[in-house]
Amino acid sequence: MAERAAIVTGASSGIGLAIARMLGEEGYGITMAARRAEKLDAAAKTLADDGLDVNTVAAALSEEEEIQKVVASHEERYGRLDVLVNNAGVGIGSPLGDIKTKHLDMQIAVNLRSIVLFYRECLPMLQASAAEHKSTLVVNTSSISGKRAEAWLSVYSATKHAVVGWTESMNKELGSQGIKSTALCPAFVDTPMTDFVKGQIKAQEMIRPQDIAEAVRYLLRTSPACVVPEMMFVRPGDAL
Ligand SMILES: NC(=O)c1ccc[n+]([C@@H]2O[C@H](COP(=O)([O-])OP(=O)(O)OC[C@H]3O[C@@H](n4cnc5c(N)ncnc54)[C@H](OP(=O)(O)O)[C@@H]3O)[C@@H](O)[C@H]2O)c1
Repeated sequence: MAERAAIVTGASSGIGLAIARMLGEEGYGITMAARRAEKLDAAAKTLADDGLDVNTVAAALSEEEEIQKVVASHEERYGRLDVLVNNAGVGIGSPLGDIKTKHLDMQIAVNLRSIVLFYRECLPMLQASAAEHKSTLVVNTSSISGKRAEAWLSVYSATKHAVVGWTESMNKELGSQGIKSTALCPAFVDTPMTDFVKGQIKAQEMIRPQDIAEAVRYLLRTSPACVVPEMMFVRPGDAL
């Protein structure tokens, strides 16, 4: 049984998969959650084949019961939670007049509501971990759109701004207990999510998922006295 354990949402590809691998390398048992079972199992196999300790739960994180299912499976398998990575997200671009209500609801549900519910459902395990080592970490994947809003990505930008605000609230509410929260705010990262823009920006010119995972590795090493509320990742020459 791993001495430390983590949940990573959106762990079947891109940034979440890179963070899950890094946590496995650091000795964490990892519950990997994402929507599509087949893709998730294939991703988890790449970690398990390298000897990492993984548990998978396929779950649509827009649904409260599915979130509870992930947390229950994790608790049953590992019995503790030292790192929570709220990374699953969805971005659907649209001009204002064409915004579809179902796309609005989906982005709010996955990008924001699921994070609130994961914190709530995981709170007892996070508090137990923090009582033990005072350096329990929650990482919330926002976006550079959570710092500088984008036209035609207005709903996505609004949810990602909300993630930054939520992270700030959690640091004020839980920080003194030893639960530290960080919002990750990257510009274009080379993942399936940015396939739509690869005609204009080459994949090699994008931030790597491993760059984000290495930043989270750094967060694991900060002392209990140090909180990093947010981290921005931009490409060379990006205007801030
Ligand atoms: N790539 C970028 O340039 C960039 C920049 C800034 C922020 N981000 C953020 O980074 C996070 C990860 O994105 P990524 O770039 O790594 O994209 P990705 O490779 O497409 O990964 C997205 C992950 O989220 C999961 N997911 C999406 N909707 C879900 C739902 N309803 N329920 C459960 N899981 C769901 C996906 O699983 P399924 O495939 O099974 O749905 C997948 O595992 C997102 O929050 C995104 O907004 C990305």
